[in-house]
Amino acid sequence: MIAQEIDELRRLLHYHSHRYYVLDAPEIEDAEFDRLYQRLVKLEQDHPELITPDSPTQRVGGTPAEGFERVAHSVPMLSLSNAFSAEDLLAFDTRVRNGLPDDSLEYVVELKIDGLAINLVYESGRLLRAATRGDGTEGEDVTSNVRTIRAVPLVLNGQVPPVMEVRGEAYMPRPAFDRLNDERLEAGEPLLANPRNAAAGSLRQLDSRVTASRTLDIFVYGMGAREELAVTTHEQTLQFLQELGFKVNPHYRVCKTISEVIAYCQSWAEKRVDLPYDIDGLVIKVNSLAGQRQLGSTAKDPRWAIAFKFPAEQATTIVEDIVVRVGRTGVLTPTAVLRPVRLAGSTVSRATLHNEDFIKEKGICIGDTVIIHKAGEIIPEVISVVESRRTGAEKSFVMPATCPECGSMVLRIPGESAHKCINSACPALLREGLIHFVSRDAMNIDGLGQAVVTSLVDSGLVADAADLYTLTAEQVLNLERMGPKSAQNLIEAIAASKQAGLARLLFGLGIRFVGAKAAATLARHFGDIELLAKASADELTALDEIGPRIAESVVESFARPEAERLIAKLTAAGVKLTEEIRRTTGILPLTGKTFVLTGTLPTLTRNDAAELIESQGGKVTSSVSKKTDYVVAGEEAGSKLDKAQKLSITVLNEAELMALLGTAQRDEEPSLS
Ligand code: IVH
Repeated sequence: MIAQEIDELRRLLHYHSHRYYVLDAPEIEDAEFDRLYQRLVKLEQDHPELITPDSPTQRVGGTPAEGFERVAHSVPMLSLSNAFSAEDLLAFDTRVRNGLPDDSLEYVVELKIDGLAINLVYESGRLLRAATRGDGTEGEDVTSNVRTIRAVPLVLNGQVPPVMEVRGEAYMPRPAFDRLNDERLEAGEPLLANPRNAAAGSLRQLDSRVTASRTLDIFVYGMGAREELAVTTHEQTLQFLQELGFKVNPHYRVCKTISEVIAYCQSWAEKRVDLPYDIDGLVIKVNSLAGQRQLGSTAKDPRWAIAFKFPAEQATTIVEDIVVRVGRTGVLTPTAVLRPVRLAGSTVSRATLHNEDFIKEKGICIGDTVIIHKAGEIIPEVISVVESRRTGAEKSFVMPATCPECGSMVLRIPGESAHKCINSACPALLREGLIHFVSRDAMNIDGLGQAVVTSLVDSGLVADAADLYTLTAEQVLNLERMGPKSAQNLIEAIAASKQAGLARLLFGLGIRFVGAKAAATLARHFGDIELLAKASADELTALDEIGPRIAESVVESFARPEAERLIAKLTAAGVKLTEEIRRTTGILPLTGKTFVLTGTLPTLTRNDAAELIESQGGKVTSSVSKKTDYVVAGEEAGSKLDKAQKLSITVLNEAELMALLGTAQRDEEPSLS
């Protein structure tokens, strides 16, 4: 009697949790579900002899395990070879067609869930064991933790073979990950780098109550050991698994041609941000199971499947060395030399480590395995150290006590994290200062790369920026690797830069805290370097966007005798030291509109674009929020674009921006009607 009621309760709870967790289509109220559950808990408490491991009450185990036992997989869990481009997919298709000369070839394309692979073993339809992939032949027994995942059926529906293995990807949904990190932030614990690490960490908890507290989910995508089943295609396998009660990702598609496959893969590059979980690509599989058998596998991966990978936003690599560079202000910046790795579409071999405090905070050592990402979508940065990969051979980094360029003493600036070379004549200052002076957003002198600047400084031809303007073609020709043609071009490019104007010149001078934007504001307001040089801190802070820090730095720079000498030399050389004054009176067409720029635009630099927008009264900010009116996105736009799409903010490409600016300009003209 009691046994019967218990059975009935388990059947009902099983049915309703499948509706809730797998199908996302509950039939009863939560309260009703809780009532059934509590009734079962009560009966089992009174009759502990009737508790079975597949009872819904047993999802969260009691005592923490000592460690994980290793279990061998009856069929190896292979990995997949990767495709990074349409060409790679075409090559895969050719290989498949060579191995399967049959016209009826079809592919199934599935989302590649970014979590960790799990093998589920069922005996007589009951979950017996769950294991991680491990090295592919042997994994860890994580049964008690996997039981806590509600979407994993403990008992299967319908007729099932005596033994079956089901494979899938356990993952942590984005919202659960964000919540977990919020909690960790509050508790002062280190943040988890991404949902995949969080899922792996959660499944490897020795106390399954911890796993249960972290919402994990699963999608199944195939089978390991299987008895003869009535299915003949992968698509039917997915449908069969769904009928048994498993959660199968709904976004799979059967494709008849590789072009269809490619188009489907590409369509997810953008759509993926809308998913509540991370995918790192798509998996393409030959649909026919007979075809799969015929193609077979290499030792590592099946020949009948391939993973199409999106450019990674994060990557794991090794810090091979930490080198120190002296910048144009004399500040020493440590940089990680990385084992080259693909990241967001390019190969990365260096990452800035900012300063000593950053290295200490992250605990980065030479030899460490680290997770990197692209900060601000361009500069690679280390997020965290993978401490579990430490071997003991790692070396900690010490900031050098003397300057690597000139051997002078290095001091830490009081109250800051920066270390600085004390030698104001350090050759690095001049060289780096000149590299900045000639750079694209400053004087924009073509043909003056780092190597040429270094030779100009080393040969003693140039001792300050103004010296560039008295160089002759003959002098330049004597430099290494310089032919007559490139020498002439360089001299012409230098001469042309004389007309760059005050805004670019001010930015190029590298006055501390004066970025391109502040430089433009100052140039447009004062119109002449002589007037700016005489301005007081109060006059400067009266300007929009000029704070006390910038103002003080400007006043201090122009008070130095070197500044006066440099201005005199630049004037003598005929460099333009003025800018057209623009009065921002009246309401401009883009007044009140806020823009965010992201990615690389085809022709405009970010500063050009910002200048254009600001010239029409628009404001350019760095982060996307509900207040943003437009996001201007170029190549390799990253998270800002994602955010814009989530917030339904209008996204413009360069042409559309120009059109908007154009329209805005036309609007200003008096109308004829
Ligand atoms: S099929 C032999 N399908 O990707 C075929 N794998 O790089 C094995 N993954 O270890 C895998 N989503 O952890 C397959 N729809 C999917 C997948 C998927 C994620 C993971 C899985 C596997 C890794 C291969």
